[in-house]
Amino acid sequence: MTSILAPLVRGICIDAAKTSRIVIPGEGPAPQNALTIDLESAFEKDNKGGEAFSEEGAAKILHEAYASWEFEISPSGAERTETVKKQPSSIVLKRGAQTLAIFWIDRDLDTARNRRKNRDDTLLEEQVLQKSGEASLFQALSAVGRSGVMANRVAVVTGGAQGFGEQISRGLASSGALVFIADLNLSGAEALAEKINDSVGRTAAIAAEADVTSEDSMEHLFTFIAEHSGGLDLCVSNAGILQAGSVMEQKLDAFELTTKVNYVGYFITAKHASRLLRLQHLAAPQWKTDIIQINSKSGLEGSNKNSAYAGSKFGSLGLTASFALELVDYNIKVNSICPGNFFDGPLWADPEKGLFVQYLNAGKVAGARTVADVKAYYEGRIPMKRGCEGPDVMRAIYYLVEQEYETGQALPVTGGQVMLH
Ligand SMILES: NC(=O)c1ccc[n+]([C@@H]2O[C@H](COP(=O)([O-])OP(=O)(O)OC[C@H]3O[C@@H](n4cnc5c(N)ncnc54)[C@H](O)[C@@H]3O)[C@@H](O)[C@H]2O)c1
Repeated sequence: MTSILAPLVRGICIDAAKTSRIVIPGEGPAPQNALTIDLESAFEKDNKGGEAFSEEGAAKILHEAYASWEFEISPSGAERTETVKKQPSSIVLKRGAQTLAIFWIDRDLDTARNRRKNRDDTLLEEQVLQKSGEASLFQALSAVGRSGVMANRVAVVTGGAQGFGEQISRGLASSGALVFIADLNLSGAEALAEKINDSVGRTAAIAAEADVTSEDSMEHLFTFIAEHSGGLDLCVSNAGILQAGSVMEQKLDAFELTTKVNYVGYFITAKHASRLLRLQHLAAPQWKTDIIQINSKSGLEGSNKNSAYAGSKFGSLGLTASFALELVDYNIKVNSICPGNFFDGPLWADPEKGLFVQYLNAGKVAGARTVADVKAYYEGRIPMKRGCEGPDVMRAIYYLVEQEYETGQALPVTGGQVMLH
């Protein structure tokens, strides 16, 4: 139940504050200043004599109760003309006399955890912008400091333990987000989360074991996220593998595995991410959220002897456009980023299994005698003469999150290697 109620509560708080919130479950007696809401009438009889919980009904009750609470603390509407907006820092959900859940609310995870620990239920206060002139100035400035769009937001990165996923996890954490590093490699995700938290001096990263090819695993991941932060603002579907091979030689197993991780895995990720985002949307209809798939330049042009990979990436662009059409109704934007080659990441640079070593040994680059020769050859094919790096992808992520008026797109980040067709 917590994984359903937490996103609804997060949605209500976001809707009122117009900014991100962390919502975590608590225990014990109801805090004194808590906003208490009875959800009894959200439990409806179904036609089989049983009972069903109406998420829409619950969202409506939450909205009404929140509006009454706001009116009580500011009956004259003075709140709207003040520069500080107040919010409850705890919400108790009941069904009649039974307590269904207690939630603690704050801007970031550590502060919310401290509130819960100290049972500090003083009201949350937020500075609000006043005149429309100030609001447009704020918007113009935010385009300059674009990474600010992720401050205090919640993100998940699949395949976040290494490579591009690591770069994205680090980038999001350093721009103030709470990031769930979801990876098949749990120990890698944990080690990275620890490094990130040490370097930013707060709980900015949480590791979670996840296999994007398993429906159970992904369902569990998004429940875990709802229970640990209340919800989500950005899902980066990054996990992907590459198994190259000639169409005449490649084993079916290899083709199917690539398709399963890169294409089916994206579907499963988007399916469970959007279910959580939809719940939040019920309570915060204006709040925009994002699903961003890390695609590839191989999703925009063929890749020689690499058809399983390119096929999975081309197909994923069809998923992106189709998910976008459906999920726009829930204010969820869905876009793909198509990066060029990340030469400094493990896929290319691993000294034993990396593509540079493989291509050197296979004699793929005529005249190349060292790994550096192979790298120089590939860099030379890029108009901007270097590979794609983490910050290049991060800029694309910030752009897509900040850009409210775009969905269903594939954004190339290739140093000019893939241009308009
Ligand atoms: N490296 C590049 O040059 C490049 C270029 C363009 C696009 N991309 C794309 O970027 C994404 C990341 O690639 P990378 O090169 O950084 O990869 P990588 O191999 O360095 O890291 C991939 C991560 O995904 C995890 N992973 C693998 N299978 C998983 C699964 N089933 N469930 C959850 N996690 C899983 C791995 O444990 C690993 O941590 C991929 O989608 C890839 O197609 C990579």
